[in-house]
Amino acid sequence: MAAKIKKVIIPVAGFGTRFLPATKAQPKEMLPIVDKPVIQYLVEEAVDSGIREVIFVTGRGKRAIEDHFDHAGELEFFLEKRGKHDLAREIRKISSLAHFAFVRQKEPLGVGDALLQARRLVGDEPVAVLFGDDIVYSSTPCLRQLIDVFEKYQEPVFALERVPMKSVQKYGVVGGKKISPRTYEVSEIVEKPLPKQAPSNLSIVGKYILTPQVFDELERVPYRKGKELFLTEAFSRLLKKGEKIYGHEFFGIRYDCGDKLGFLKAVVDFGLRHSELKKDFKRHLSQIS
Ligand code: UTP
Repeated sequence: MAAKIKKVIIPVAGFGTRFLPATKAQPKEMLPIVDKPVIQYLVEEAVDSGIREVIFVTGRGKRAIEDHFDHAGELEFFLEKRGKHDLAREIRKISSLAHFAFVRQKEPLGVGDALLQARRLVGDEPVAVLFGDDIVYSSTPCLRQLIDVFEKYQEPVFALERVPMKSVQKYGVVGGKKISPRTYEVSEIVEKPLPKQAPSNLSIVGKYILTPQVFDELERVPYRKGKELFLTEAFSRLLKKGEKIYGHEFFGIRYDCGDKLGFLKAVVDFGLRHSELKKDFKRHLSQIS
C-alpha cells in the first residue's frame, strides 16, 4: 500500500553563526518576517501540505520555539479583556495548528545528527523534513509539491532550486535525468563544487521527504572529523547502491532566512505583501530608492 506522509521533522538546534550577534541569545528561527517568526511560516507550510504532527529537534537556547507553539492563556485573556478578539483568536490558533513534539540534540553535530535524534518518534514510516530557515512563497506549498512527487514514486525526494553557476560553490548540487518538466531522477550529488566541476546549477534546498532507508544509511555514515554528520552523505551512499532518489524543482520564491541578505529580502517582500502595511511600506521604499 502507498505510504502517506503524516509527520514533519523541523531541526532547529543549530547555532545560527551566520546571524551573530543577533542569534547569541535567541533562536534564528524566531526572527520575525514582519509579524510572524520564520518558524511559524514553516509549521504553516507543513499544515497546509496536510501534515498534523510536527517534531522539533531543539537544543540549548531554543525554549522560545516551544513557548511560541504552546497555549498562552494569560495573553489570550489579556487580549480578550481589552476587546482585541481577532488578535486573541490569532494567538490561540498557533498552539492548535498541529500536535507538537520536541526532542533535544545535545550538541549541534550537523543536520544528519539532528534528524537521527527524531528517528524514534518517526518510527518506520516516511517523513517530511523542513530546515528551520528556508521559506518558500508559492500558491501550492513547496512541501506539498514534494509530497505529490513522493506519492507517485514512494522514494526519497528533495527540493531543488536553480542558482547562478558562479555561486554553485556554496551549495550541494545534483546531476540527473529529467523525467518530467520539474522532476529529476538524481544520479549524483556534489558538495560545493567549482563551477566547472558542477554537474548542473540545481542546488538542494532544505526541504525533503525521507524514507526509513535514508535513516538506516545515515546511521552508518561516519561523523566528518568527528564533528558533523551530513545528510547528503547518506543520499550519495544510497545512490551508489543503486537506490532511487528524486529531486523536484519547485514553483515559488525561496528565501534563505538563515542568511542576512536572504532574511532582508524576505522582510521587504513579505512587507510589500502585507495587507495592512503594503501601501505605506511601498511609498517609503519609493522615497528611499
Ligand atoms: P544550517 O545549515 O543553517 O546551520 O542549519 P546553523 O548552524 O543553524 O546556521 P549557520 O550556518 O551556523 O549560520 C539548517 C537547519 O538545521 C538546524 C538549524 O537550526 C537550521 O534550522 N540544525 C543545524 C540543527 O538542528 N542541528 C545542527 O547541528 C545543525
